[in-house]
Amino acid sequence: MYENLSPQDAAKYAAGKAAVERFAHDGALLGLGSGTTSAWFVRALGEKVAEGLKVVGVPTSTSTRDLALSLGIPLVDLNELAEQGLKLEVTVDGPDEIDHEGDMIKGGGACLLWERIVAEASEKMVCIADNSKLKDKLGAFPLPIEVIPYAWKATRNSVRELLVDLGYSEEVPLILREREGGVVVTDSGNYIIDAHLGELRDKVLLDTNLNWIAGVVENGLFSGIAHEVIFANPGGEVEV
Ligand code: 5RP
Repeated sequence: MYENLSPQDAAKYAAGKAAVERFAHDGALLGLGSGTTSAWFVRALGEKVAEGLKVVGVPTSTSTRDLALSLGIPLVDLNELAEQGLKLEVTVDGPDEIDHEGDMIKGGGACLLWERIVAEASEKMVCIADNSKLKDKLGAFPLPIEVIPYAWKATRNSVRELLVDLGYSEEVPLILREREGGVVVTDSGNYIIDAHLGELRDKVLLDTNLNWIAGVVENGLFSGIAHEVIFANPGGEVEV
């Protein structure tokens, strides 16, 4: 249905379609990721729903919610599922970077908090990506850290202290994310600090210690979360 795509979009669409083929069966409860790659998964899912497939989705952002609703994909509040003790079968989401261990940096679209909550409420998290996202080392992409707006500069100082303790340079840029002259506000009303670390070390230590800092809500280092990765190239070749 979608034609004349750029090579990168063709790869993202191929990865999204492959995830739909593998996981979208009648009755499936699916977490719907955010970002441009996940949007292709949602569009591919929308095609199947238009053909009669019966699935229910939980979006990981307001933008994915709006896209899914525009395509006629039924959605449910994650609280309703949780009340019934239900988990999602699988959440499909894209990374900003992924390494050979399946660890990822996420949050380039500022949706990391809901993405992580939905992933944890799922039996399985599946990462979809075009080949350009695969890196030997994570960290060229700045690590997003979602912080409470109250006294965010004090929280940033605490982040810096932690980074120095972990052996990173005192000069690591910790930049409040802004777009078009305004501060980016997440779907939960928080700010994002982008940590330009260059190369991540001690990923588990970094992830857990960041989240211990008062004022940090979540960080974009998704370590040990992906169960499966689907890579695609612009020619439509898919590797799981
Ligand atoms: C949003 C995300 C996205 O999944 C991530 O930024 C990847 O985006 P894209 O598929 O557009 O490269 O984490 O918070």
